[in-house]
Amino acid sequence: MALHHHADPALAIVSNRPEKSPFNAGETVEEKTQKLRVLLLGSGGRECAIAWKIARSPRLEKLFIAPGNGGTDAYGTNVQALSPLDFEGIARFSAENDIDLIVVGNEDPLVAGIFDFFRDREGAPLIVGPSKAGAALEGSKDFAKQFMMRHNIPTARYRSFTAETLEDGKKFLEQLQAPYVLKADGLAAGKGVLIIDSLDEAKSSLEEMLGGMFGQSSATVVIEEFLSGIECSVFVLTDGNGGYRILPVAKDYKRIGEGDTGLNTGGMGAVSPVKFADEEWMRKVEDRIIRPTVNGLIEEGIIYRGFIFLGLINVAGEPMVIEYNVRMGDPETEVVMLRIASDLLPLLEAAAQGNLGILPLAEDPRAATTVIVVSGGYPGSYPKGKVISGLDKAAALTDTIPFHAGTKRDAEGVLVTSGGRVIACSAYGDTVEDALRASYAAAELIEYEGKYFRRDIGRDLLSL
Ligand code: AMP
Ligand code: GLY
Repeated sequence: MALHHHADPALAIVSNRPEKSPFNAGETVEEKTQKLRVLLLGSGGRECAIAWKIARSPRLEKLFIAPGNGGTDAYGTNVQALSPLDFEGIARFSAENDIDLIVVGNEDPLVAGIFDFFRDREGAPLIVGPSKAGAALEGSKDFAKQFMMRHNIPTARYRSFTAETLEDGKKFLEQLQAPYVLKADGLAAGKGVLIIDSLDEAKSSLEEMLGGMFGQSSATVVIEEFLSGIECSVFVLTDGNGGYRILPVAKDYKRIGEGDTGLNTGGMGAVSPVKFADEEWMRKVEDRIIRPTVNGLIEEGIIYRGFIFLGLINVAGEPMVIEYNVRMGDPETEVVMLRIASDLLPLLEAAAQGNLGILPLAEDPRAATTVIVVSGGYPGSYPKGKVISGLDKAAALTDTIPFHAGTKRDAEGVLVTSGGRVIACSAYGDTVEDALRASYAAAELIEYEGKYFRRDIGRDLLSL
């Protein structure tokens, strides 16, 4: 069912390209000067990078980060006791602290409906993020696949199954070629995708998933065709009214081991730009994926004023969608923020207000990379509370910014590890190679017991 808000949604589009400005020539646009009080929700490397970027804005009056980590307090005030899922608590805090704008770092509050919670409250702050209906692009893979089908967005062929249709699912697997891709429909902390080589194993995994392997999240399972190619992450900031900006493209490295082997992690590093995502390829992405997505949301009456994360794969020169997320990527954000030359805060405000207008989003021509140093044992179990040193030396390197991820201050104020991914060693360089050298120099200087990092971040792209 499509609700047509615009007679012709294509007319409502404001592209990245400035010549398509919705304003008439000669019209002056008043620049906003009002200072903003901002609450950023989250505690990872992504939020540390967003906090760093927002803190550089001349429009910022005050930044709070809830709960934040051991590094975010360099850019604002941590509100450790406030959970991103405690909407009533966030409302109280926002009223007491005159918050104008809430930026949501991770998907959980969005999928739980933070946008809708604040939408009809008098005097509520603006929220950067989709409505609960829009967050289903990440919260339900089945919904995302159906959405892509409705709007002719290129993606792997698929079918969805439930416990009632288990036998049909097994028959469907028999018609596919190995490897088999099985995805839990709902959120599963990044662990809900299985890629399996043997048919028998795929059938038994399907049965286990439908039997509750990921709880309610795998009550429906999407089985899809395996796509072969290099992946990249494209981020779009949209205002829900056809306006959007494309952020610098990044690639992340998910596996724990070099050569992209071993267990999946939250991400071990990232680089930007991505060589194959050149102008021609990005034109295809914009025409076939971004515009149909932005328009499709409007057509379906889904309010979406925030980031759309397109997990793309390059299949023989053609972009296809692997997944949607409804937030920025981590660790991609730790390079993307470095490559945004424009002030991000007015863009966030404008997106949340539903009108990006002609605000520019300019890219820094330099490359950026990040290398994540993690706790020994990650992504399995790992110790916490290890004392971290060497950060000052790493931060003193030219064009290097160590963003904190899993860090905190202990009772004595000493910086210790508190998560699997500890520090994102981000750096600028004239080229990806130069930036990587700086990221690795920083990764070497940081010390704590059990430190590990991958030494091959970005290497696959350098040989292309
Ligand atoms: P997702 O959680 O959807 O991002 O999936 C996790 C990872 O599984 C992706 O980043 C891809 O590397 C891989 N993957 C997912 N779907 C496919 C597919 N259809 N073909 C090949 N690889 C896939
Ligand atoms: N880096 C992938 C993600 O944030 O989901």
